[in-house]
Amino acid sequence: MLASYLSLALGASLALAVKPLVVKDNYFVNPDTGNRFQIVGVAYQPGGSAGYNPELRKDPLSNADNCLRDAALMQVLGINTIRVYNLDPDLNHDECASIFNAAGMYMILDVNSPLVGESLTSYNPWESYYASYLNRTFAIVEAFKNYPNTLAFFSGNEVITDVAAGKTVPPYVRAVTRDLKNYIAKHSKRSIPVGYSAADVRKVLFDSFHYFECAEDGNQNDPSKADLFALNSYSWCGAATFTSSGYNTLVDGFTGSSIPVFYSEYGCNTPSPRIFTEVPTIYGPQMTGVFSGGIVYEYAQEVSDFGLVDIHDDGSATILKDFYTLRDQYAKLNFTTIQGVKPPKEDPPVAPVCSAKLITTPGFCNNFTLPVLPPGAKQIIDNGVKPTPSGKLVSISSWSVKQTVKNSDGSVLKNLAVKPFSNDEVNEPGSNVIDSGSGATASTTGSAASPTQSKKNAAPGNIAPGTVVAAAAIAAAAVIGAGF
Ligand SMILES: *[C@@H]1O[C@H](CO)[C@@H](O)[C@H](O)[C@H]1NC(C)=O
Ligand SMILES: *[C@@H]1O[C@H](CO)[C@@H](O)[C@H](O)[C@H]1NC(C)=O
Ligand SMILES: *[C@@H]1O[C@H](CO)[C@@H](O)[C@H](O)[C@H]1NC(C)=O
Repeated sequence: MLASYLSLALGASLALAVKPLVVKDNYFVNPDTGNRFQIVGVAYQPGGSAGYNPELRKDPLSNADNCLRDAALMQVLGINTIRVYNLDPDLNHDECASIFNAAGMYMILDVNSPLVGESLTSYNPWESYYASYLNRTFAIVEAFKNYPNTLAFFSGNEVITDVAAGKTVPPYVRAVTRDLKNYIAKHSKRSIPVGYSAADVRKVLFDSFHYFECAEDGNQNDPSKADLFALNSYSWCGAATFTSSGYNTLVDGFTGSSIPVFYSEYGCNTPSPRIFTEVPTIYGPQMTGVFSGGIVYEYAQEVSDFGLVDIHDDGSATILKDFYTLRDQYAKLNFTTIQGVKPPKEDPPVAPVCSAKLITTPGFCNNFTLPVLPPGAKQIIDNGVKPTPSGKLVSISSWSVKQTVKNSDGSVLKNLAVKPFSNDEVNEPGSNVIDSGSGATASTTGSAASPTQSKKNAAPGNIAPGTVVAAAAIAAAAVIGAGF
């Protein structure tokens, strides 16, 4: 009660959509309800790596119009998390973070970028581990730590892709994880998990996992121990199965993990168009005990041809076929089950003691002595990044999308808008727009279909013109349209 009065008093127009999550054993949980959270995510890097350009002062979360357009479409898709790779800590992300927050979406953020001096290098990591590099990673923490929907930071992405890199890089990635966690402990009001995003190269995957998961001397509070582990995996292609995709061996390999494991990228695109039949398996009984969901690669169409939405130079966008297919796969899931379960209480897994015995591939580093902080870095951890980037939720004046967005058949989506949630709600399929099949029969009355009732009958096809839920118009009934 008090809390809701307070939030009203402090910022009546701020949408306070999501609750900061915590890691409990190998699950993400909502600390109020104790319920598990599973990631239903999409990789968000419009413009590819060129979408981040410090000289042009742009990154994927610095243009509110674009974020509004994309958050509205992601609500339609059924997404609850975005992953953003390349960010500029010195830009203002308040509007974009507030939009995704209000849309019920968390953010998983890479602290690195491909630019020189902004990530560890794979073969001579000692040459890239210096104070101004760490300062950059801490600046990302400063820029995002105050947003409630910041879910986690990646301390590295695919730095180890072969045994040669596995020989030298692991202590450095573990050191960066340690440094970030020490920085967060000192400068953030809440704990934000940090972990590594691995390439699914089986020769080094499980050694990487064991190297990062373990606890020095068994100390479960060891700051160099990863809080989570993620992998970019493209092994499920077309009409594969749990076994033919090798997902079964991933589940075997990560069973007993003491930290959450999830796909930080998935979505093989050959054959194309994609059918996304891995979705029911990722969120089904064979996997959810071990995995906490995954992030589909990727939202925006680039030359690599993984996109769900084609964004044009003028900011208008066209929805691609894979978008509808993925949306329909999500719509078939039972989110009451997916988000509603409590983690088991008995026998919580414990991180193993770091030891050479954990490492199985000859040539992969099995020495857990980490590099000490480079000169100048301790002062930054002690005193904080100066000048200090900062972020805060702001109120958004309009939830309506300004650019033109078209279905793949060329029809224009009318009244496309983000539907802001009230307290603690997370987006799920069916919470915003509507599928009315042909589009001809869409009703505009917000009659009572609730998101959970609506799952079953999602018809394939376009998003009907004029059937998008306008933000404020329908407060509770999240769905309209004949398909539901
Ligand atoms: C640390 O990061 C801040 C914020 O990006 C930047 O302004 C400052 O120049 C950086 N300092 C060093 C020593 O790299
Ligand atoms: C979803 O799962 C819950 C509990 O696990 C169950 O009560 C409910 O009937 C299911 N909903 C549908 C539409 O199957
Ligand atoms: C482990 O690495 C540290 C730092 O590089 C080194 O000093 C030490 O000798 C190594 N230990 C073994 C057993 O090789």
